[in-house]
Amino acid sequence: MALDEYALEELGLAPRWVRKGAAAAVGSVAVEAVSVGTAVASHVTEVAPSAEAAVARAGVPPQAEAPAPTRTSPREPAAAAPQPTSSEARRAAPSEAKRAQPDADEPPPFTEDDFAWFDSVAEPVLPQDIDAPARAPRDDIPTLDWDALAERVKSCERCRLCEKRTNTVFGVGDREADWMLIGEAPGENEDRQGEPFVGQAGKLLDNMLHALTLARGENVYIANVIKCRPPGNRNPEPDEVARCEPYLQRQVALVKPKIIVALGRFAAQSLLKTEGSIASLRGRVHEYEGVPVIVTYHPAYLLRSLHDKSKAWADLCLARDTWRKAAGGES
Ligand code: URA
Repeated sequence: MALDEYALEELGLAPRWVRKGAAAAVGSVAVEAVSVGTAVASHVTEVAPSAEAAVARAGVPPQAEAPAPTRTSPREPAAAAPQPTSSEARRAAPSEAKRAQPDADEPPPFTEDDFAWFDSVAEPVLPQDIDAPARAPRDDIPTLDWDALAERVKSCERCRLCEKRTNTVFGVGDREADWMLIGEAPGENEDRQGEPFVGQAGKLLDNMLHALTLARGENVYIANVIKCRPPGNRNPEPDEVARCEPYLQRQVALVKPKIIVALGRFAAQSLLKTEGSIASLRGRVHEYEGVPVIVTYHPAYLLRSLHDKSKAWADLCLARDTWRKAAGGES
């Protein structure tokens, strides 16, 4: 199998994978029409309309029957479980309007913004959170070495998330990697195991890495913006982000990656200090702590939105090109 074909297969863009994924989601609905692999074979960022419609239909997850969520997070999806728990279903369920089967030319059932950490109903900003970054304790984190930093995170009590965590989730991989992937925060599995991206989303992330001929732990370091699981997978609060950020800053300083990939809206917004949507942040090179940053979709979102996988592949290609440039054409 040619390398490109193999990469697409690994990323789940090849016809066979889509068929499997679609079958898992909704049975055999319209999957014969799907030829996403062909559509993206030359780094195309669009899927043929009929295929896109079919994938969009197939992308409606079984948990769509659950009630509409009040808050959503892409952190750990329920898509893989045949019978999602009620909390998983809450996180995954689209709104009532989105549950209706779309026509072929209607927009796909999800956008990344449906998985927003910031709800359409604005949360009240507590007075004590307004100046959270200014109040975050300043200490010696920027001077710590790897072992001291890992220990510091393990015993961290800088915010209230320490109260309910099972484990801190520090990060995993090659500490001298060129590639650094940054997600949002640990989910339930990560909290239990103390490692980032170990659930279904992690599996897809591993496939995405494979498509780039990378692997977890080999020239890749994976971390989250937040090191402790927010209870019930709620959205991290601004003061929690502010108090945790020095750890990530230090990790970036120690790894010295040549490229950072921000996975999903929360990671992108936190790193880039913006409220921009994923759509507005994708497709160009940003910067964090002097390192080029590419924004792409969160793998948990991609598990439910097959139609955006081709865009994620385009993002990864941009990341690879940017990395090559940053590495001075070494690779
Ligand atoms: N989602 C994330 O953003 N990070 C994890 O570690 C797991 C799921």
